[in-house]
Amino acid sequence: MTDTLLETATLAVDEASADRLFRHARSTSQWTGAEVTDAQLQAAWDLAKLGPTAMNTLPLRLLVVRSPEAKQRLVEHMGGGNKAKVEAAPVSLVLAADPAFHEHLDELFPVYPGIREQLAPATEVREQMARKNALLQAGYLIVALRAAGLAAGPMDGMDADGIDREFFAESGWRSLMVVNVGEADGEGSPHPRGPRLDLGQVSRTL
Ligand SMILES: Cc1cc2nc3c(=O)[nH]c(=O)nc-3n(C[C@H](O)[C@H](O)[C@H](O)COP(=O)(O)O)c2cc1C
Repeated sequence: MTDTLLETATLAVDEASADRLFRHARSTSQWTGAEVTDAQLQAAWDLAKLGPTAMNTLPLRLLVVRSPEAKQRLVEHMGGGNKAKVEAAPVSLVLAADPAFHEHLDELFPVYPGIREQLAPATEVREQMARKNALLQAGYLIVALRAAGLAAGPMDGMDADGIDREFFAESGWRSLMVVNVGEADGEGSPHPRGPRLDLGQVSRTL
């Protein structure tokens, strides 16, 4: 049996779903120009929000950048080739971490009464938790966008401090990456898919 057949035999989702979510999905920079609807973003979030985070903190925040004026404000802070990629995308999401995530914990994590008050003075701990868990959620969101029929182009080549000053001076959110979103034109990328490391290269079993 080939490796591919072995992988397929152990999947619990159908082939079309595995193709859509992983095998055929690329980091996209080429778009059809089709609009991204609020309903599609809602559908993606309704899946992504279910991915696990420590103490159910859900620190990821999204700035949905749609208008040409807002796009231009964002482009100013993107690095080199990423400027044109933001301009070309139907929608760009600024993914950010909210260090004030603890404000929601009475609702989100009622099994641990008092955790909101406990975390309030622990600024450094909250910043680390926010970043780690928001990055996890970014991964969930990319796959959820694909499940909603969209393609995603993540990028972190940007002036994060500049973006924070531009958009998050009041909220205190900390930008992590920009994810361009839309409908992929063909494969969505001008580059061939890069190779990946096999399980044997990245794991040790004890
Ligand atoms: C966190 C992150 C940051 C990235 N930053 C950039 C970037 O600044 N510019 C860019 O063009 N691509 C960027 N990429 C795209 C990666 O190069 C791409 O995801 C990787 O090569 C895999 O490509 P594939 O999904 O098409 O197989 C980034 C991807 C991730 C996940």
